[in-house]
Amino acid sequence: MDGPLEITNMPAGNDTAHSARKDRNSQVGGAKISEEAPVFSHLPVMLSECIDGLNIRPDGIYVDGTAGGGGHSAEIAGRLSGGRLIAIDRDIEAIEACRARLSRFGERVTLVHDNYRNIGAILSGLGVGKIDGALFDLGVSSHQIDTKERGFSYSRDGDAPLDMRMSRDDALTAYDVVNSYGEDELCRIISEYGEERFASRIVSRIVSARSAAPIRTTGELSELVKAAVPASSVERGSHPAKRTFQAIRIEVNGELDGIEPALRDACAAMNAGGRIAVITFHSLEDRIVKRVFSELARGCVCPPDFPVCVCGRKPEIKLINKKPITAGADELSANPRAKSAKLRIAEKLPE
Ligand SMILES: C[S@@+](CC[C@H](N)C(=O)[O-])C[C@H]1O[C@@H](n2cnc3c(N)ncnc32)[C@H](O)[C@@H]1O
Repeated sequence: MDGPLEITNMPAGNDTAHSARKDRNSQVGGAKISEEAPVFSHLPVMLSECIDGLNIRPDGIYVDGTAGGGGHSAEIAGRLSGGRLIAIDRDIEAIEACRARLSRFGERVTLVHDNYRNIGAILSGLGVGKIDGALFDLGVSSHQIDTKERGFSYSRDGDAPLDMRMSRDDALTAYDVVNSYGEDELCRIISEYGEERFASRIVSRIVSARSAAPIRTTGELSELVKAAVPASSVERGSHPAKRTFQAIRIEVNGELDGIEPALRDACAAMNAGGRIAVITFHSLEDRIVKRVFSELARGCVCPPDFPVCVCGRKPEIKLINKKPITAGADELSANPRAKSAKLRIAEKLPE
């Protein structure tokens, strides 16, 4: 997706999001996908930590780059008076959920169906020069995982098509990755994005199975992985296919590619004192956020043996928390999904 696909200004009388969705009937690996979205369910992670961390000004302009079910967005919008929230999601089902959930905030909220990596173009398309805060709650929503036919889940009814697209406008599906990627590439993806040490064993099974017939469903893939991974090596309470599914999902959605440009562009658009808060759910994401934040916070990049700075770069942000914030015990008992979540917050410095 190159530019904002669709912008919906609240209130909900504007029906563009809805009509755009009605046109999409997708076919993945021969399996038809239902377009009926169930009720959106997703518990926002570290909600109060994010809201406190953003230090919201009632008249400020905020971006929620991953609006999902609108949990964080609703809290941000509820604190605005004269300000504005731009809520972005690449998943049209999320945009629809937000349209319903955030309609009470009227024109305070603008919904944008797009990829957050286009944040610079989105803001200029909306005529917004500077913002006062941005939130990115990365990864998939519970809604995406729980909607069987979207094919994200390794454990839920195995006859779902191998899809895993966050945006059904995108062409690449999990079916394509599993059935058409070369052995080496598949191995690299599962080993790198899934941090899976049995990647080559898994890929051997996949390659042998697909030479007989295409692998069409989440259940088929899950069973192949299960057969390849020694049961004794699977962490207690985990599923043998968890890492492989994560890897394929990251590849299908190009999940790691957009993080750095989005953080840099959000930072460039930020007024001094504005905050960026990012929640990650696995180490690959967190490593990127940590590196980009530390580069933006460092300023000078001259070699340490230079007597004076010649690069002239100044720190753009300061880190609000050096170590990532994690969910407290109460939240963990209510929402196991928060277990791996890490929150990093940075503040834009004056130029
Ligand atoms: C963890 S959920 C966010 C949940 C949300 N904070 C809430 O309170 O309901 C992540 C959401 O980000 C969206 N997303 C992931 N990558 C994206 C991207 N590159 N651009 C836009 N949205 C993205 C997903 O579609 C999903 O809806």
